[in-house]
Amino acid sequence: MTVRLLSVSFTVLFLSSCVPPGAAQISCRNEDGDAVDWFVFYKLPQNRKQKSERSRFEYMYLDTTMKSWQRSKSLVNMTQSVLGRTLEQLYEAWEAKNNSTAYLIYNDKVPHSMDYNWKQGHAKGFLLWDKSQGFWLIHSIPQFPPYPEEGYSYPSTGERYGQIGICITYNYSQFVEIDSQLLSCIPNVYSCFIPAIFHPELTYLPKMCAHSQLPRIPHRRLSRLQSIQGQNFFHFAKSPYFVDDIFVSWMAQQLQTSLLVETWQPKLPSNCSLSYHVYNIKRIRIPGQSPFSSYYDHAKWCVSQRYHRKHWTCIGDLNRSPFQTRRGGGFLCTQNKHIYLAFRSLILHYQNCNHS
Ligand SMILES: *[C@@H]1O[C@H](CO)[C@@H](O)[C@H](O)[C@H]1NC(C)=O
Ligand SMILES: *[C@@H]1O[C@H](CO)[C@@H](O)[C@H](O)[C@H]1NC(C)=O
Ligand SMILES: *[C@@H]1O[C@H](CO)[C@@H](O)[C@H](O)[C@H]1NC(C)=O
Ligand SMILES: *[C@@H]1O[C@H](CO)[C@@H](O)[C@H](O)[C@H]1NC(C)=O
Ligand SMILES: *[C@@H]1O[C@H](CO)[C@@H](O)[C@H](O)[C@H]1NC(C)=O
Repeated sequence: MTVRLLSVSFTVLFLSSCVPPGAAQISCRNEDGDAVDWFVFYKLPQNRKQKSERSRFEYMYLDTTMKSWQRSKSLVNMTQSVLGRTLEQLYEAWEAKNNSTAYLIYNDKVPHSMDYNWKQGHAKGFLLWDKSQGFWLIHSIPQFPPYPEEGYSYPSTGERYGQIGICITYNYSQFVEIDSQLLSCIPNVYSCFIPAIFHPELTYLPKMCAHSQLPRIPHRRLSRLQSIQGQNFFHFAKSPYFVDDIFVSWMAQQLQTSLLVETWQPKLPSNCSLSYHVYNIKRIRIPGQSPFSSYYDHAKWCVSQRYHRKHWTCIGDLNRSPFQTRRGGGFLCTQNKHIYLAFRSLILHYQNCNHS
């Protein structure tokens, strides 16, 4: 590396650590409230042997600064959790009614509501952004997060089973792509605010927020997204009009890798009918925990079967259920060694194709 290049990168580092206090940028946040490029959390299923209250709220955590899972310091129902810290920014923006900040919250299962709309995507997440940057968090927790007017809490519907989520901090330029990706997912938006300054650039999110008529929806859409620190992701977005198993017919073949898939109570068997195979995970082992059956895991994720065959990790919205082949939803995939090894090491047992 030349001296010139070194001095340039020092300058960049110096400038980026020079954000004045009070003008914190919108970002995914860790348990200390510090900005991170991305994080993944994995809430554990309730420990069925101990039956402890605490075990319903414990989670593991992974971000750019660590090589493998860390057990969280806080519980997922606390405002000091990564979800609490990250959502705090959204709740503050809501309170300020600041016309330069936008947010959108969607979930197929809305807090306090018994209604269910099968036409909306089987998708859960929330976004907060301004003209500089923001985050998009995708998760599996029903009836979460609470409406901004209620403040942070964790729903009882997310306690018993395992749950997962991924948060990524993006430059504003990426929200134009995210806008199109979410259109195909048809998210069920239950709380949002998208000020007029965004309307010229973002076509669909303001329409989804206003519940107005959507234009023609692409059957599926693949997009490359880059985090603010340069980690690359693919986002696979599937509409209800692409009626097929997203793992078998699209993700595995597109990424050219056989996948080991963890989803909630899968009804579709492992599938070896195409070039790249898809196998259902049956058992998970988390260090220092007794193993658990995928039956108790509401998380939705998959990894490449073998490290040297591409080491992809994906986290997203859909289960391997025949009903969900007819639903909208998506997956975020990345090729990161530490994320891959963290997930791959959890897999104790998966189902081959020859016996179902
Ligand atoms: C979180 O859950 C634990 C275990 O049930 C409980 O002791 C604690 O009071 C809860 N905290 C909040 C803020 O709800
Ligand atoms: C509104 O938000 C922007 C960026 O998020 C910030 O720079 C500005 O100070 C805020 N204005 C008010 C009135 O809070
Ligand atoms: C935001 O815009 C709305 C409508 O244009 C206006 O009524 C409101 O006062 C503005 N809020 C701020 C904090 O500027
Ligand atoms: C970040 O987004 C801004 C606004 O869209 C754009 O001008 C800038 O080029 C982007 N930066 C990068 C590194 O993509
Ligand atoms: C495997 O998946 C493909 C694509 O969804 C489907 O056409 C085929 O019937 C499946 N095969 C088995 C044995 O389930």
